[in-house]
Amino acid sequence: MKLLITGSNGQLGREMREVLERRVPGISTYVGHEELDLTDRTAVETFLAAGDFTHIINCAAYTAVDKAEEEKMQCAAVNVDAVSNLARLADELGFKIVHFSTDYVFDGNNCRPYTESDKPEPMSVYGVTKRRGETALIGLSPESIIIRTGWLYSSFGSNFVKTILKRAKDTAPLRVVADQIGSPTYAADLAETVVDIILAPHWTPGIFHYTNEGIASWYDFAVAVLEEAGYPERAAAVVPITSGDLVCAASRPLYGVLSKARIKATFNINIPHWHAAMRRCLAKMPQE
Ligand SMILES: NC(=O)c1ccc[n+]([C@@H]2O[C@H](COP(=O)([O-])OP(=O)(O)OC[C@H]3O[C@@H](n4cnc5c(N)ncnc54)[C@H](OP(=O)(O)O)[C@@H]3O)[C@@H](O)[C@H]2O)c1
Repeated sequence: MKLLITGSNGQLGREMREVLERRVPGISTYVGHEELDLTDRTAVETFLAAGDFTHIINCAAYTAVDKAEEEKMQCAAVNVDAVSNLARLADELGFKIVHFSTDYVFDGNNCRPYTESDKPEPMSVYGVTKRRGETALIGLSPESIIIRTGWLYSSFGSNFVKTILKRAKDTAPLRVVADQIGSPTYAADLAETVVDIILAPHWTPGIFHYTNEGIASWYDFAVAVLEEAGYPERAAAVVPITSGDLVCAASRPLYGVLSKARIKATFNINIPHWHAAMRRCLAKMPQE
């Protein structure tokens, strides 16, 4: 088994490295954006042809949801064209792909958790490109595994938890959206599951949903982070607002809860609750 982790300097990519080197050391190669730009077809082809990889775990993506509304071409180049190119090469060179997608492929009008067979109706450029990446992958490399996740955070990179912690010491009011519901997901837990999947006795292709257990609004999540990090007064003062109060370029689903029944049943995994996961992530972050 010889793994390639692309986008290895992003939050999921860095968690993948930690988990892989702890559980199956020495079998993985890690390439960040600077080392391998996935939109450079020739470079990717040359790199993969020389690599003899059995699996590619594609953590690379264009993830700037609001900026994508303006940078449509750049977003599609990474989330669609680069994924199609990997899928084409997977067939030619015989490696398997684990790829990641998002709850933003849905429109958020459900009132029960989305299953893998629910119809995607993305509302943003980012969501549209992630869905197009999924269909390209399924069409060109049907042996691939696609894991849809949501509200990803980590001790690495920039994310909602880090933003809230930065604002904890301010005096300015903290206004946080209370009408978008989802499941915060610790990228380290997702990385553990990816390794479980790679090491499973059988390869089961298809789409799977993975988030941490439990649901929250962004408001709930912000309050929990502040309480846990030792800012109870700041937590009590968080102001709940609606999505309509916030000017954002991209629309986001109001309800983004994903059903995890398929991934749990297929790979026999237990998924930690988001609150316990968030506590583990905070414990890992350097205290300032
Ligand atoms: N973050 C979330 O809340 C969230 C939610 C649902 C699903 N997801 C999905 O989960 C996966 C991992 O997300 P993440 O949060 O770890 O993202 P991230 O932290 O933004 O990392 C993405 C990485 O991809 C790299 N990248 C961008 N363009 C590239 C290119 N052309 N070639 C090679 N690498 C490139 C980026 O490098 P640069 O920074 O140098 O460009 C970055 O290191 C993605 O598929 C994402 O769509 C994320």
